[in-house]
Amino acid sequence: MRVHTPYREIREDFSLERNELYQKISEMEPNAVANTIPLTWAKAKDFSVFDEKGNKWIDLTSGIFVTNAGHANPLIKDAIKRQVDSDLIFSYNYPTEIKYQFISKLLSISPPYFDKTILLMSGSEAVDAGYKLIKFWGAKHGKKYIVAFGGAYHGRGLSNDLVSGSKNKAEWSRVKDEEVIFLDFPYEETDSFDPSKLPPADQIAGFVFETFQGWGAWFYPDRFIKDAHAFAKKHGALVMFDDMQGGFYRLGPLYGYMTYGEEIKPDILCLGKGITSSLPLSAVLSRKEIVDFDEKADLHGTQSANPVCCAAALADIEFLSDEKRKKEREKPMELFERESKKLTEFPIVKKVNARGMIAGIIFENTEPATEIVKRCIMNGVLPVCTNRNSIKLAPPLTIPEDAILEAFGVIRDAIIEVQKTAR
Ligand SMILES: Cc1ncc(COP(=O)(O)O)c(C=O)c1O
Repeated sequence: MRVHTPYREIREDFSLERNELYQKISEMEPNAVANTIPLTWAKAKDFSVFDEKGNKWIDLTSGIFVTNAGHANPLIKDAIKRQVDSDLIFSYNYPTEIKYQFISKLLSISPPYFDKTILLMSGSEAVDAGYKLIKFWGAKHGKKYIVAFGGAYHGRGLSNDLVSGSKNKAEWSRVKDEEVIFLDFPYEETDSFDPSKLPPADQIAGFVFETFQGWGAWFYPDRFIKDAHAFAKKHGALVMFDDMQGGFYRLGPLYGYMTYGEEIKPDILCLGKGITSSLPLSAVLSRKEIVDFDEKADLHGTQSANPVCCAAALADIEFLSDEKRKKEREKPMELFERESKKLTEFPIVKKVNARGMIAGIIFENTEPATEIVKRCIMNGVLPVCTNRNSIKLAPPLTIPEDAILEAFGVIRDAIIEVQKTAR
């Protein structure tokens, strides 16, 4: 055994070569999917991921920001089993008791300025619905522009690509939404919100904010987001937050946008990922006058509010919003943030963005970042490989302090090794 601790097990024969299973699957899937780390997931429990040979990693990905309540959380598993045993595992859009219970709970823990929710399946669908809400609302109120941000990511459908800020993201479609205006993302703390770069204020229908930019956990400078928010509210534009990665206590409070201060009150909030810590479900929170623009608006799908997903989501948010558990998470979260920020002591680390249980470690270029991820994996720690000049860390919120310290020990060793060759 190369690595053997209570939290990590890596056998001598483990390698990151593309194994047989990886090859067989990638022959049947697009190359774009196959470009993942060749690590077979056999099971995942709490903050550990296991492969088929018993290798075991401390998971710093939460399966890419989903399993806030831990992998295979026992309460969520029980809720899923109970729902399956009740013989209601699909219900189209008919009323079900479990959907009622879940929506009621979601709205009851959310701020009172949200009174309606749209249930969908994926984050991309939630953002698509948000885009649609802004468009319809804008048409009704004689406003047309949507303000979005360079570098943002909002999912993978056409409307998502139209508001995502990577250059030419929607070019493949030859569709351009001339009404979407991109502002540069304020990467510097001193960057300020400049309304002179915007179209006429009374013609702006909405602002689309990603709570933080995914690839490097880049947050808006506090002043910037407050000024942009105040500007939108003053001129009657809708404020939409895509809180896919920041939602469900990832950053401390229930929703990530809340870390910017109490005055930030979105009109549209797109949620997914941590909403179930498991099965596919997403939601948009908003208000009656925005959501109910047209009875024929297509705001649900065949699988929206699947009862098994609703059961998982209800158990998840009950688990995560339990007061005692919230208190218990505080110290590990502080430790995680502190340990993340300490990584700036290494010369190859350019910047660390950390808030709550998410961190983006920024490097000069992609190579050292990817090399550090590989070394961590070879030593039993699984960070997010962004394939860019960053590494992301986001463990399940259930991770204990000693596992956090152990994981950072591995990350630090990997940085030290890579730094030797990079300088
Ligand atoms: C900010 C943000 N928006 C939207 C999405 C799309 O979510 P999904 O992959 O569930 O469609 C993601 C996914 O990573 C995301 O990070």
